[in-house]
Amino acid sequence: MEKNILDYNTVELDESDNSVIIIDQTLLPGKTELIKLKEAQEIWDAIYLLKVRGAPAIGVAAAYGLYVLAVQIRNKVVGSHDEIEVFYEEFVKEKEFLNSSRPTAVNLSWALNRMDDCCQNAMKKGMSLNEIVEELRKESIAIQDEDINTCKMIGEYGLSLVKKGDGILTHCNAGQLATSKYGTATAPIYLGHERGYEFKVFADETRPLLQGARLTSYELHSAGIDVTLICDNMSGMVMKNGWVNAVFVGCDRVAANGDVANKIGTSVVATVAKRYGVPVYICAPTSTIDLNTPTGKDIKIEQRPAEEVTKMWYKEPMAPEGVKVFNPAFDVTDNELVTAIITEYGIARAPYNESLKAILDKKNK
Ligand code: MRU
Repeated sequence: MEKNILDYNTVELDESDNSVIIIDQTLLPGKTELIKLKEAQEIWDAIYLLKVRGAPAIGVAAAYGLYVLAVQIRNKVVGSHDEIEVFYEEFVKEKEFLNSSRPTAVNLSWALNRMDDCCQNAMKKGMSLNEIVEELRKESIAIQDEDINTCKMIGEYGLSLVKKGDGILTHCNAGQLATSKYGTATAPIYLGHERGYEFKVFADETRPLLQGARLTSYELHSAGIDVTLICDNMSGMVMKNGWVNAVFVGCDRVAANGDVANKIGTSVVATVAKRYGVPVYICAPTSTIDLNTPTGKDIKIEQRPAEEVTKMWYKEPMAPEGVKVFNPAFDVTDNELVTAIITEYGIARAPYNESLKAILDKKNK
């Protein structure tokens, strides 16, 4: 029997082969192909080209990637003079390189910094090179394990905000394919499905890379959830018709004031939702909260190649050759359009400067 897409791990560490295995998401839903990543450039490309994508999955892939590279560096430098110093120098170079693959999702630098902290702590404790690398292995696995539990908790909190039979709209893919399990925005949907909530989900197709059509509608449909795919310009109509009781979306970075960066088009959905009185819930693991970024204006928005808008997915180009194109991958939704931010440590509401800090204090207690 053919495997369901939800039976695959989005990201996996293959210790037998010292590699990271991912589903190549650029080929979904037509083809399920697992690819192995070993070299720094392969890992960087996989993240940049969105073969692995979604803020938490990028973090997990980068952590595993850095571990895989750490093993290679160890094998190269072991036994040399000052082996730990030489190891750490190379390790930091690879970390910086991976960190340059995509700028907006803070989970990338969060996961890489966590690996770096782990490495420095092990060095401070006077561990041997092998022991340091073993600590890095454990840390990368912990990052993935925690992601599963985090998504589950977001699902529980999210589920408390909706009722049976509700219509839910989501944008882009903040699903299992963007995380290790459950997704963030889809976690309340999956948990509700297990408990007989019978949600009716609307998935925005999400131009230009169609994560909603190719990934969200695919994974929800594969789970047997009632999902309807709509074009990005239809969310106003379905909300006006009264078919949507809540918007659940993921996010790539939450600024200290509660402005949130997520897939381009999220701010349009949030604006329309406000017009029709539909609550907008941002599902964000605490690893996505960045109190060092004061407001949405300070978030670096990734710009992507024009061809994603003009040519990709079409048999023939759908725009005149050389036309000017604006292709930001994300936009910022102003905090006043956000009803609540759902984290694994609880639900934050305005004023976000206070509530987000309280959530992180709870985490660090
Ligand atoms: O460009 P992508 O596909 O990586 O964008 C993904 C999103 O915008 C998601 O909503 C976000 O990363 C949250 S994933 C749980």
